[in-house]
Amino acid sequence: MTMTMTGRRVLLTGANAGIGKATAEALAKQGAALILACRDTAKGEAAANEITRSTGNERIEVLPLDLASFASIRAFADRVNRNYDKLDVLVNNAGIMMDEWTPTADGLETIMGVNHFGTFLLTGLLLDQLKASSGRSRIVTVSSMAHRMYKLNVDKLNEQRRYMPNRAYGLSKLANILFTYELARRLNGTDVTANCLHPGIVRTSFAKRLTGLEKLSFAALKPFMIPVEKGAATSIYLASSPEVEGVTGKYFIRCQEAPSSKQSRDLALAQRLWEESEQVTGYSYKL
Ligand SMILES: NC(=O)c1ccc[n+]([C@@H]2O[C@H](COP(=O)([O-])OP(=O)(O)OC[C@H]3O[C@@H](n4cnc5c(N)ncnc54)[C@H](OP(=O)(O)O)[C@@H]3O)[C@@H](O)[C@H]2O)c1
Repeated sequence: MTMTMTGRRVLLTGANAGIGKATAEALAKQGAALILACRDTAKGEAAANEITRSTGNERIEVLPLDLASFASIRAFADRVNRNYDKLDVLVNNAGIMMDEWTPTADGLETIMGVNHFGTFLLTGLLLDQLKASSGRSRIVTVSSMAHRMYKLNVDKLNEQRRYMPNRAYGLSKLANILFTYELARRLNGTDVTANCLHPGIVRTSFAKRLTGLEKLSFAALKPFMIPVEKGAATSIYLASSPEVEGVTGKYFIRCQEAPSSKQSRDLALAQRLWEESEQVTGYSYKL
């Protein structure tokens, strides 16, 4: 067993299941202390116990976080900021797919609300902790190749008319990349890096809320799905590998830098999304 993460603290969102849990387990094996941020803490505790049993690592804490509620995100970040003095890695893994327009606690469309706006707010509130890390700290955000599918109009992120779950999902994953690149630019000159990734098409219960045509089209992908341990490989790599020390503002597939869509590299769009995100979340980054 390699213990390259001993002495490092890693916070993972959505770590009770799927890719997040497999990522947490691998990092626990490498000796990291973990904070599992889960909306259902019973599921989180069950995952933590399983990880402790399989790795022998007992430095795993579960804290409640619902990314569909700005109040929950703020309460969570307050708790982390009170309990710890530094964070070495933040893995923005949690993500959701819905089958119909559903509001978050703050009245946002849930897919974009959780996958982008919640992630944006959480990252901002934890930035001082990441800057306080003794070495270089890392922000890793799980996006998707689905980011290529639709054109983003920042003024229509919350629209209910002609709602399409696939479009909302693809745009939320595009927002993850635009956010990562803009964050990396704004973090230039600090010891904090920000990268994002596509994990592959992974056998998880991610599509459990889908119905009808969307469910069928997801089911058609089943023969191409990879196991969750493989799907976690790029998250683990970006969170822990010395090979990417200092690398920032990049998109990865299969542990290798890869090109993201032209739209995701649009500087004006990234800036526009950033401004909108600050307005929607009521949080201004101090960078
Ligand atoms: N599976 C794929 O093929 C695939 C492909 C590309 C990208 N991705 C991305 O990979 C990431 C992980 O997905 P997965 O496939 O591992 O799916 P998953 O098994 O459904 O795991 C998603 C995790 O996110 C959590 N989550 C959902 N809504 C949340 C909220 N409001 N607050 C906090 N946590 C929340 C879930 O918690 P609960 O257990 O409580 O629901 C769960 O722990 C997502 O960002 C997804 O977009 C997946």
